[in-house]
Amino acid sequence: MSPNDTRRPVVDTLLAGRPRAPRAEGAAFAPANIALVKYWGKRDAALNLPVTSSLSISLGELGSETRVAPAGRPGDTVLLGPDPAPAGFAARVSAYLDLVRPAPDFGFRVETHNRVPTAAGFASSASGFAALALALDDLFGWALDLPALSILARLGSGSACRSVFDGFVEWTAGSRPDGMDSHGRRLDATWPALRLALLPIETSAKPVSSRHGMRHTVETSPLYAAWPETVARDLESARAAIATRDFPRLGATAEGNAMAMHATMHAARPPLVYWTPATIAAMRRAHALRDEGRAVYLTMDAGPNPKLLFEADQADAVRAAFPNAVIVAPFGGPSARKPVA
Ligand code: PMV
Repeated sequence: MSPNDTRRPVVDTLLAGRPRAPRAEGAAFAPANIALVKYWGKRDAALNLPVTSSLSISLGELGSETRVAPAGRPGDTVLLGPDPAPAGFAARVSAYLDLVRPAPDFGFRVETHNRVPTAAGFASSASGFAALALALDDLFGWALDLPALSILARLGSGSACRSVFDGFVEWTAGSRPDGMDSHGRRLDATWPALRLALLPIETSAKPVSSRHGMRHTVETSPLYAAWPETVARDLESARAAIATRDFPRLGATAEGNAMAMHATMHAARPPLVYWTPATIAAMRRAHALRDEGRAVYLTMDAGPNPKLLFEADQADAVRAAFPNAVIVAPFGGPSARKPVA
């Protein structure tokens, strides 16, 4: 059975009674997101159903802008910026489009622009698949609600289900085998002073995808057994920190959670280590800022590039220590929905 055999009944349920004929074009934007409490491990690989819930922050204006239209001929055209998308990504997009293709000989033209500073070494499949799901909703005029759009995005990439929303987002793991209860939800909280910094350390594609890294870790790491418990504790702590605007608690929870996730990978057999010497140097620099009494914390996904978490009053110190940092204000600083360069 192919993954799409498992996905198709879910899509059919979501789209029951909705239009199947496309309009001229659909377009949408979706923000990238950074998990503060990570998604690491699936209970269903085809549906991207997670072992645990997770919690993220969306990056405001940084993300993907996608246009989708009928190609007028068989076969899909998938562009990333002005260029054809890398073959692997284009194949993933085409497989995803198979789920909503009106007829086998119907081709789509998909054009995605990543609004992410190219030097930031930050490409996000989360914002890409979320923007694609939203653009398809626009193209076909489905008018799906946000939980349904989040589920549709999840079928492309797990973390994409969080990129359907702005602000703090919790992805509830759910327990249903069809995943209809596994989607993102925006938390009712803002934090105008919150800042993130992307550190461009390694900008080439990572050698091991999160998809493979997750599976390898779940299957071989003796530390994975402790992960669900760690996440449950960290989720509670992150929610409480957000509710009370307790920044040191939020930062320490996010950093501890990311380190625990990497520890599960480091203990996998063979080990999976995304860190480079530059990653560790950046970590030490962040810790040195903390030793000076500055509340600067870090998180890291399945890659070598740390992201820093801090509040606006530390922006100058962060900029001085990390001159290449791309600083983002997720809740809009002086200019709403704009990254602060
Ligand atoms: O959605 P995926 O398959 O790219 O997995 C994302 C996994 C992490 O980025 C490491 C964690 C997360 O919650 O985003």
